[in-house]
Amino acid sequence: MAATQVTWFDGPVLGLETSCDETSAAITINQMVRANVVSSQAELHQQWGGVVPEVASRAHVEAMLPVVETALNLAEVKKPAAIAVTNRPGLIGGLSVGVTTAKALALAWQVPLIGVHHLEGHILSVLADATEALQFPHLCLIVSGGHTELIKVQAPGRYTVLSETIDDAAGEAFDKGARLLGLGYPGGARVQERATHGNPKRYPLPIAIPNDPYHFSFSGLKTAVLRLTQKEGECLDVPDAAASLQAAIVGALAAKVEGALETTGLKTLTLVGGVAANLALRARLKETANKYGVSFHTPDPSLCTDNAAMIAIAGSLRLAKGECDHFTLDCSPNAPL
Ligand code: KG4
Ligand code: ZN
Repeated sequence: MAATQVTWFDGPVLGLETSCDETSAAITINQMVRANVVSSQAELHQQWGGVVPEVASRAHVEAMLPVVETALNLAEVKKPAAIAVTNRPGLIGGLSVGVTTAKALALAWQVPLIGVHHLEGHILSVLADATEALQFPHLCLIVSGGHTELIKVQAPGRYTVLSETIDDAAGEAFDKGARLLGLGYPGGARVQERATHGNPKRYPLPIAIPNDPYHFSFSGLKTAVLRLTQKEGECLDVPDAAASLQAAIVGALAAKVEGALETTGLKTLTLVGGVAANLALRARLKETANKYGVSFHTPDPSLCTDNAAMIAIAGSLRLAKGECDHFTLDCSPNAPL
């Protein structure tokens, strides 16, 4: 199978991402990420144990222009040739900040504007360091705070959703589990940290594998962690519980990936989205890929969690095909891929 030609826009693209709690600006030039600046609001939302939309919008307004300026300076770019912005799906207040900023800058600089679907950004984030090696079609596992999907990626812009979660996303399972274990927010990274010294076999938690081969389910896991905390009380060993929770999520994801590799016969696997930063998941899927003789690509962890580099990449590929959006570009909290 020959590698599909992926053509990037020939010039600096400014990417903007504000769909949740990260304000990010990035510059890609041809096939390289030249700057990727992320201002995280995690500390701000920590006191509420999750993202407060109004607080997030205000923080995006404050951080947006400094982040853009830093990205331009780092990339030594005075004026980009185009602007790509996440316009769907996400928290509407944050999306509005990004889209309004993108429109104002595109108008001032007289450059094309392009709206990007957040999930397309995640799917194409692997291209940051695998443009030459990546095969199409491939199987993509996208695991984030709001999504858990297996996607057949025929080519950039051509996606078929093969399976999705029927309840919580994998990231939600990490976040809700972390809250129940008293680890706070953001949950995934904290569970991973505590799991490092824990025994994953200490508390067997259910690996949710619905009979339907095409779906994920994580809500039962949250209930199981709640029961575990109630049963063990102060005797609960938090590192062991964190390791057990992580093992259950990783096990459920790996089982579905194995099934999809068998069913589809695809020979390339990618892992993207915030939960893809999880080291245990990365290691496990690498093993799965080896077992099935498929090649495996996952971006650097810094490009797994929300960032504007992936938005600039997705925008760059569409701009290279001659696509761009009008200044009437709108944002939408929900949108299919
Ligand atoms: O893609 P992302 O940054 O934002 C969304 O689009 O949702 O994903 C955020 C999710 C959160 O649920 C967070 O807990 C999880 O990714 N996450 C992790 C890790 N880092 C972030 N989950 C497990 N292990 C990690 N190291
Ligand atoms: Zn995301």
